[in-house]
Amino acid sequence: MKKWLAAVSAALILTPPGAAMARDSYPERAITWIVPFAAGGPTDAMARNIANEVSKQLDQTILIENVPGAGGTIGATRAARAAPDGYTFLVGHIGYMAAAPTLYPRLAYDPVRDFDAVFRFPDTPLVLLVGAQSPYRSVQDLIAYGKANPGKLNFSNAGVGSTSHLVASLFTSQAGIEITPIAYKGAGPALNDLMGGQVDAMFDQTNTALPQTRGGKVRALGLTSAAPMPQFPGVAAIGAQAIPGFQVSTWYGLYAPKGTPAAVIQTLYSAYQRALQNTGFTRQMSDQGILLLAADDYAPQALQRHTEAEGKRWAQVIEQAGISLQ
Ligand code: MLT
Repeated sequence: MKKWLAAVSAALILTPPGAAMARDSYPERAITWIVPFAAGGPTDAMARNIANEVSKQLDQTILIENVPGAGGTIGATRAARAAPDGYTFLVGHIGYMAAAPTLYPRLAYDPVRDFDAVFRFPDTPLVLLVGAQSPYRSVQDLIAYGKANPGKLNFSNAGVGSTSHLVASLFTSQAGIEITPIAYKGAGPALNDLMGGQVDAMFDQTNTALPQTRGGKVRALGLTSAAPMPQFPGVAAIGAQAIPGFQVSTWYGLYAPKGTPAAVIQTLYSAYQRALQNTGFTRQMSDQGILLLAADDYAPQALQRHTEAEGKRWAQVIEQAGISLQ
């Protein structure tokens, strides 16, 4: 009897909290993914598409909770403070998981210290867009007007530190023009005002820019990808037509609050790997101008390393380009 009791108590001590839940019955209830931008933007669209496929693999509901504001840092703060129980995650991205620590001095979280990486999403390049009625028909037209009229061009963005803000800041700094940035709670509302003629231009990710470009609601002047994309026929890379080497993509990933059981992270990553075996799903993303990555790049450890490296890189980029909270 004593031997049996000793074995059970040893097992109880060796099983870390949450591992049993993760191994046997997780997820028992709906999971929440926090998206720190307004609904209808590229991050929201990417998150919903991936959540839909992962949900099928888990046979469990994944709820998308939009928590917009301050370039995504409000939602990221909410996620960092959530219980590490496997039921709340952050859809992170280049802005609030790499640029924000440099842009927001009193950030309430640390992207590396306060989160465990779960898996990386594919990347999205961006498209320089103007309204359909805009007089600008090329990147050079826009730059020429900007040089002759400092501050007159207004660019919408999804908040300080969003990709739309960062890329516009890099573009204007390297093109030698001054613009007026106008911040929204996400690229969705920012794009609506571009289509409505309230702003002159914006950088939007390919997955949400494509339908509006095809529909003639906006005009694409240039791509931030290394090369042209078949989804945007006749549109050259900005690096080829105006600013040599100009190339940025938004990267994304799913993150858990630090201390989430490793078994939970493995369960989610395995479900994502199975979802990526569905060629219909991956083809649908490619057709939206989303750039699929090598399989190993999606892994938790790869995302953790990428997050650390990007934080260091964007600190330098922001310093050199003089990007600020404006
Ligand atoms: C951005 O970085 O601009 C975001 O992707 C905007 C969004 O997803 O709403």
